[in-house]
Amino acid sequence: MEKKEHPMSDCPIGVFDSGLGGISVLRELYQIMPEENYIYFGDSKHAPYGTKPLEEIRRLTIANVEMLLERGAKGIVVACNTATAAAVRILRGKYPNLPLVGIEPALKPAAMQPGHPTVLVMATPMTIQGDKYKHLRTRYESEADIIGLPCPGLMEFVETGNTHGEDLRAFLEDLLMPYIRETDAIVLGCTHYPFVRELIQQIAGERVRIFDGGNGTAREMCRRLTAAGLRTLRKGPGTVLFENSLATKEEIELSRTLFQKK
Ligand code: DGL
Repeated sequence: MEKKEHPMSDCPIGVFDSGLGGISVLRELYQIMPEENYIYFGDSKHAPYGTKPLEEIRRLTIANVEMLLERGAKGIVVACNTATAAAVRILRGKYPNLPLVGIEPALKPAAMQPGHPTVLVMATPMTIQGDKYKHLRTRYESEADIIGLPCPGLMEFVETGNTHGEDLRAFLEDLLMPYIRETDAIVLGCTHYPFVRELIQQIAGERVRIFDGGNGTAREMCRRLTAAGLRTLRKGPGTVLFENSLATKEEIELSRTLFQKK
């Protein structure tokens, strides 16, 4: 029997972040669902979110979702841990029937490693201070020693396309050195950080396992769309449209470069 198509199944999936970091999540989405269409919105003009007051992050996050829905998005991925921490509950209340998935630090797989590991959670100050992270932490604190490490200033390197520079290495060494000897696992609790994963791994050493929530978030979105009958039936690759509140050619080019980065 022919499958009946949902009228919105060919509409794009809306993905957004405070800037370019959410492209690390978009890459995971595209890996799992290459035939879908995507609109990626980076709010680089207002970045960083992670050092802003809660109310302002909420206002910006809600505006991003409204904009993507006006553009016809069939589902939304909040590809920003900070925006998720600040506003996902409000968004769920506002749009109860919308497939909407927010990313959060991948603390579970890191903490569930055998032998009561020490886990360092790198994230923005807002994510670390937020209630959502506190609850998550409480859930796993009997499994692991969990250290929350706010990393103000780190996302700015990625925003300017710097993922390997010596200045970045020095910044990361200063940040991580006090913790590295005791650390067994690192959670990348901000979507910008997977782009500097290689350097973090070099500094932390091969012994330390690194986790990020991008893949889990993408799989959850796939499940949600499937359950709602919203997956496209089209075969072949979909389109990926990059937009940015800075609206410059350079910003869009940098977005594409990060998307294609090995
Ligand atoms: N990419 C965002 C996150 O996942 C944060 C960067 C920012 O501070 O805006 O938390």
